[in-house]
Amino acid sequence: MKTEPIVILSQREIEKMRRAGNLAAKLLKHLEPLVKPGVSTLELNDEAERWTQAQGAKSAPLGYKGFPRSICTSVNEVICHGIPNGKQILKDGDIINIDVTPIVDGYHGDTSKTFIVGNPSLTAKKLVEVTQKCLELGIAEVKPGARIGDIGAAIQEYAEAHGFSVVRDFVGHGISNIFHTAPDIPHYGTRGKGKRLRAGMVFTIEPMINEGTWEAEMLSDGWTAVTRDRKLSAQFEHTIAVTEDGVEILTRE
Ligand code: MF3
Ligand code: CO
Ligand code: CO
Repeated sequence: MKTEPIVILSQREIEKMRRAGNLAAKLLKHLEPLVKPGVSTLELNDEAERWTQAQGAKSAPLGYKGFPRSICTSVNEVICHGIPNGKQILKDGDIINIDVTPIVDGYHGDTSKTFIVGNPSLTAKKLVEVTQKCLELGIAEVKPGARIGDIGAAIQEYAEAHGFSVVRDFVGHGISNIFHTAPDIPHYGTRGKGKRLRAGMVFTIEPMINEGTWEAEMLSDGWTAVTRDRKLSAQFEHTIAVTEDGVEILTRE
């Protein structure tokens, strides 16, 4: 649990978050055509690092608490924090979440999408669609005066109504010149509970939705989180700002 005070960003800081968020969205779009059977997750990583440097930005994940690569690549049963690897080759029917966080002028843009490689199973396709909708429904709850619990409740209701489960061990987070700060944004919860949202708060919403159990397990590399039953997991993420009249998605092209 992150217990530091929740920061209200100035308009000047939000403009910096917009620029970082815009670059993050463009990076995901740049990587999308490379997501094909036969590509390795390390090739995706290396192109992300090359492109980020060419834009004069930095990759926040690289060296963050010892993370060894520039992006996270989470394939199939991997929930999050998958480490790009030259021996991991994408194949037809895989799903892969690519999570990027460039730093521009000291501020972070954090966004991710799950891509489908070739022809997915019906379940994989449904899981990815439901997860994307979960992110949209979570964002739709955001406005001044709403509660953090409203976001999680909207996501959990939709995911569970479709027979899927919500990961508990990883949550959204406040973000600014710091990568991960208060508040925690759980993707499950109860309407009317939790802190009230205020204009100028900036945080991520990043639901991880599982085909089977919500329970996670950590692999021996200390980073890769997988589903306990090794069934599929999908994730989408945006960085958003609470505005006077609602919400602004900062990780937009
Ligand atoms: N981008 C991830 C998030 O959404 C965090 C990755 S931290 C890393 O919060 F160290 F694994 F890169
Ligand atoms: Co992220
Ligand atoms: Co995040």
